[in-house]
Amino acid sequence: MKKNKAPNSTQFVIFGGSGDLSRAKLIPALFKLSVRDILPRQFSLIALDRQHENRKDFIDDLENSLPETLPEVFTREEWKNFKSNIDYLKLDFNQEAGYRRLQERLNEIETASELPSKRVFYLATSPKFFPVIATGLQKSGLNNTTQPGWPRLVIEKPFGHDLNTACEYNDRITDIYPEENIYRIDHYLGKAMIQNILTMRFANMFFEPIWNKNYIDNIQIISTERMGIKNRGKYYDRAGALLDMVQSHLLQMLALIAMEPPADMSTASIRQEKIKVLCSLPELGPENVEENVVLGQYSGRKEGQEYIKGYQEEDNVRPDSSTETFAAIKLNIDNLRWQGVPFYLKTGKRLQTKNTKIFVQFKTDFHPSLRGADSPEANLLIIKVQPREGVSLQFNAKEPGSQDKIAPVFMDFCQEAPRELKETPAAYEELLAGLFRGDQSLFTHWQGVKNSWQFIDSLRKSAEKIDLTPEKYEAGSRGPEAAKNLIQSESRIWWDRKNINRHSPV
Ligand SMILES: NC(=O)c1ccc[n+]([C@@H]2O[C@H](COP(=O)([O-])OP(=O)(O)OC[C@H]3O[C@@H](n4cnc5c(N)ncnc54)[C@H](OP(=O)(O)O)[C@@H]3O)[C@@H](O)[C@H]2O)c1
Repeated sequence: MKKNKAPNSTQFVIFGGSGDLSRAKLIPALFKLSVRDILPRQFSLIALDRQHENRKDFIDDLENSLPETLPEVFTREEWKNFKSNIDYLKLDFNQEAGYRRLQERLNEIETASELPSKRVFYLATSPKFFPVIATGLQKSGLNNTTQPGWPRLVIEKPFGHDLNTACEYNDRITDIYPEENIYRIDHYLGKAMIQNILTMRFANMFFEPIWNKNYIDNIQIISTERMGIKNRGKYYDRAGALLDMVQSHLLQMLALIAMEPPADMSTASIRQEKIKVLCSLPELGPENVEENVVLGQYSGRKEGQEYIKGYQEEDNVRPDSSTETFAAIKLNIDNLRWQGVPFYLKTGKRLQTKNTKIFVQFKTDFHPSLRGADSPEANLLIIKVQPREGVSLQFNAKEPGSQDKIAPVFMDFCQEAPRELKETPAAYEELLAGLFRGDQSLFTHWQGVKNSWQFIDSLRKSAEKIDLTPEKYEAGSRGPEAAKNLIQSESRIWWDRKNINRHSPV
């Protein structure tokens, strides 16, 4: 999976250098890779946007924001070293002349460095610019292959707004770059515990034999946030929770949890098995969408002196918007391994807790003498993705001092950063390091993205057809009542900190 080394010399071009993503995630991640000394030996970053006057203007802006974004890591000395590699070009994505200037600039830098560069074009822009920029790069010859797999094109999620736009963008992009040059971001794939899922499953003897319908009762993949939509109303009101979270992050986690063992740990084999899972997702039609899907939207709430706005009161959101800020979905994967095992997905904004976790709940076919009203609790495997990272295992033991009382206890593994790093590398650091190495297993393949869109598109169409509108839930609550019923009607509960044993470290 991680065999290649980063090249010696790389030019890294960011389309959208002033955007929120670049400033909050991308450039800080590059800075941290520079501090860790794992950037290519000769590295130049060229940022492109319209709003800065020149390089100094761009650098001044970064110098103001980086120390706040990276208080633990930022030092004047490291910054001096990093900024000497930053260049800036004012450019409009829609104008051809800009791409010619970009090509000239890249050639100048390459000539000065005396090393042939590998090039990365990172599209940190709205998806509508993907085909525009790809065409601009093609017309100026910046798509020409220098070596197999180069130049690399990195595309942010969401890839399109629906299946049609995703197919349209993909056709245009793959006309210009082969799949081996394309890196589609789903930043959850850069998170430490998501990368750990396959290691846990396949590097431990005790998980795989019981990883199936015979032993597992249900699997819950949950990602909730306390925050609302911040300043992203314009984007979010078009997207909603299904597009923003389910189509990408939740289905990627599901694929890693549910996939068959790959033939080997190569990118191609892992991707192949993930795609098979995403191909097996059920179609939720108008006849069964209501019993399997709950949508919600947060309403305002007074908290002390403060008023927390409802979704429809947020900036850049239509006052009568019916965009969902919450989604809960029950689905079955129709294959031999998972037949009859429900997968429950849940995500939402302005909920009680910020949490991304995967709960694997095992069956309770205990010894006959232990079944009945006082039956021990189900075993639970909890994969903690954020904010804490680690794994907990709930199992049963005799309570100390009692004759026969059985109580759940926990084994807890907390993922810790290596001492020299101060903190676990952020997802974007991992992804960028993977990008330089050419590790495409950390990025999504088109076929998987397409299957995810097919699932979400059919769900959205069915929901529209039966007029499944989002149920209101109060900001800071646990979400719509209907989500509780979705799982309780099957005599199960959503797992969270509140209902797991009080000794739980979760
Ligand atoms: N923000 C996040 O945390 C986040 C997380 C995950 C994924 N994403 C995805 O990443 C992408 C970028 O998001 P973002 O939040 O960074 O967007 P954004 O804040 O709107 O930034 C867009 C960037 O594109 C530039 N731009 C727009 N039109 C341009 C044009 N015609 N010519 C030249 N530059 C132009 C803007 O620069 P000017 O203002 O100078 O035009 C800005 O630098 C989106 O696809 C988003 O869904 C974002």
